[in-house]
Amino acid sequence: MASSLTVNLEKLAKYVNIGIPLLCISFFLAGHYYSFYFHFLTVTFFLATAINFYYRHVQKTHSLLSNFGFVAQGRYLIESIGPELRQYLFTNDTEERPFNRAERAEVYRKAKGIDSSSAFGSLLQFDGSEYKLRHSLYPVDKKNIKPYSLTFGEERGIKHAYTMHKPIIISAMSYGALGKNAVRALARGARKAGILMNTGEGGYPKYHLMEGAELIFQMGTAKFGVRHEDGSLSEEKLRSLAQQPQIKMIEVKLSQGAKPGKGGLLPKEKITQEISELRGVPQGEDVVSPPHHIECTDAESTIRFIKRVQDISALPVGIKLCLGREDEFRELIQAMKRLDVFPDYISIDGAEGGTGAAPKAFMDDLGTPLFQALPRVHQMLKDESVRDKLKLLAAGKLINPGKQFMALSLGAQACYTARGFMFSLGCIQALQCNNNTCPVGITTHNRHLQQGLDIEVKSERVKNYIQQIEHDYYELLSALGKESFDKLSHKNVLFPTS
Ligand SMILES: Cc1cc2nc3c(=O)[nH]c(=O)nc-3n(C[C@H](O)[C@H](O)[C@H](O)COP(=O)(O)O)c2cc1C
Repeated sequence: MASSLTVNLEKLAKYVNIGIPLLCISFFLAGHYYSFYFHFLTVTFFLATAINFYYRHVQKTHSLLSNFGFVAQGRYLIESIGPELRQYLFTNDTEERPFNRAERAEVYRKAKGIDSSSAFGSLLQFDGSEYKLRHSLYPVDKKNIKPYSLTFGEERGIKHAYTMHKPIIISAMSYGALGKNAVRALARGARKAGILMNTGEGGYPKYHLMEGAELIFQMGTAKFGVRHEDGSLSEEKLRSLAQQPQIKMIEVKLSQGAKPGKGGLLPKEKITQEISELRGVPQGEDVVSPPHHIECTDAESTIRFIKRVQDISALPVGIKLCLGREDEFRELIQAMKRLDVFPDYISIDGAEGGTGAAPKAFMDDLGTPLFQALPRVHQMLKDESVRDKLKLLAAGKLINPGKQFMALSLGAQACYTARGFMFSLGCIQALQCNNNTCPVGITTHNRHLQQGLDIEVKSERVKNYIQQIEHDYYELLSALGKESFDKLSHKNVLFPTS
């Protein structure tokens, strides 16, 4: 198959290479003898001949162009639009990655408030390769279900403990990775629906605060917004930020599923003047955060740093990490016990998590996927008798209630999602978050592209998405025969057999 394609391409290239100059000469003669207007075509084919000559005999970087000239451009063109062709024409509803069309469509329907019931049968696999939920023979009447509530900081008895009433939070996405309109629409939606939003590691959360959302301020390894010049923590800046009434918790990011062992990355294309001011970084170069907090070099120094942040902020303080080596995680728990210091929550980010930008090897090959990490972390905390000292959160492709319920059954007490909320804003999975060219205006600072994202309309979608998820939660809880969220356990999960 491949060789016949090569032969055809060779023949075609030969015809084109001879044909273009011949056409150029023909149009020249026609222009000379018949009509001057033929010279427009003469010029066109002359340019084509020159370009073809350049491809074949001057440039040395592309072998295909050297060997086949113009014809090879067709391959580059088709390759460049391949993802779109596959997305729109060739892949079926359950094939695409990271999220297939069926998964995305469920979010779109929820966000638009459209009835999400379907007919005929599920499109998913039932061959033992997927996680499923186990229902009960004795569903519970929804009237008897205890409403969800979770209080962070209650274990330490702090004054500013925070209670949330829905087990879902908008996961960290910085202003920088997201454009202004996207941040504002998410923050407004979060306020309307009454859920928390994580600011991401983008520094001072100007647009989040503007929309009145309740926030988890994330401190990434570069500590944008609360740093000294040398990257260490500015206690003064953290104290003053934590005093803002909308800031309810602080999250110290140790690592992220999509790029564990690597700090945040904001490509230079996305650093506007405002972002450079909010983060305190120069324009015109990529901003690469350090791989770890300079204060955290081992288990004890990490736990001491968390204690410092708890003391300065007087708020609940959580940590976010992707599970790597289990021995290191166990050491972290043991250091907590030794120092009698516990973060108020641990958020487990699965290796399948998303990112605004990351090296491919990190995205593809590093870290533990959520459904492997979460039960292990839950069990290790139990083994060390500290499970009741903190809350456990989870993220990693939990964009729909079914998967979120699996995480809640495997030990999580609330779920984070980032890309679920991006879909609720209208993300079409164009995979261009790092290029500033997001066609639906979410991960771009291009004014023209952002225009398409109407803050009020999209904030309603965010609100709808949250409300419909909440509705499904109570339906599922009833089917699983549970009267409250804290009764969920791994027994509610059917594990893959293949
Ligand atoms: C555009 C984008 C930006 C992100 N920015 C951050 C960030 O600033 N800090 C962070 O800890 N995680 C960041 N993440 C990771 C998410 O917070 C989340 O942990 C991960 O995507 C898993 O959730 P999901 O599978 O529901 O998207 C980002 C993800 C995306 C898609």
